[in-house]
Amino acid sequence: MSDFIIAPSILSANFAALGDEVDKVIASGADWVHFDVMDNHYVPNLTIGPLVCEALRKHGVTAPIDVHLMVKPVDRIIPDFAKAGATYITFHPEASEHVDRSLQLIRDHGCKSGLVFNPATPLDVLEYAIEKVDMILLMSVNPGFGGQKFIPYVLDKARAARKIIDASGRTDIRLEIDGGVSPANIREIAEAGVDTFVSGSALFGKANSSDANRYDTILSEF
Ligand code: DX5
Ligand code: ZN
Repeated sequence: MSDFIIAPSILSANFAALGDEVDKVIASGADWVHFDVMDNHYVPNLTIGPLVCEALRKHGVTAPIDVHLMVKPVDRIIPDFAKAGATYITFHPEASEHVDRSLQLIRDHGCKSGLVFNPATPLDVLEYAIEKVDMILLMSVNPGFGGQKFIPYVLDKARAARKIIDASGRTDIRLEIDGGVSPANIREIAEAGVDTFVSGSALFGKANSSDANRYDTILSEF
């Protein structure tokens, strides 16, 4: 899988105008919508759920919606997100009692599945689960908040994850990174084997900081 994907995280968007924000960023060249779901239990923050995902679809958003679940437990919310129009659903293995079952549940509901690894979480679970994974998401910050600093050792992990994907022969698996991504480090991250980039504060955050910051200008720097 070689085409690069930019997935703006709506966590840094203006929620009072979310539909327009998403329309603008997609029209400016972004590929996916990264949708951060936090439950104030698995992570210390509370965000949005299936209703908002469904509202974006009803608003006319056709871009893939990449739902990043930072919730525990994960299984009971999966059917709701599938119904709400999610394309990818990813979850943290620590948050599921039965990782294989959760991955299968995502696929059974017609979505693409993925596992998310916190910075210090090893990739071990992929040894067996890779068959049921369509995306590997590496956190390059600790989950819970936008605007944090990129943790550099995750670059080594990206190289390791790329090797695992290559060895599996599953060339369709995407390798995504999330946290602290900006035009300043995106090249280095891509060189480590990542093909899918989440960006929140460097994109929506910057665009909302001043009228002079247009999405097409900001995106062209990526
Ligand atoms: C953090 C979220 C990220 C976050 C990225 O828990 O998963 O998607 O919004 O934001 P930035 O790009 O600002 O680090
Ligand atoms: Zn995320």
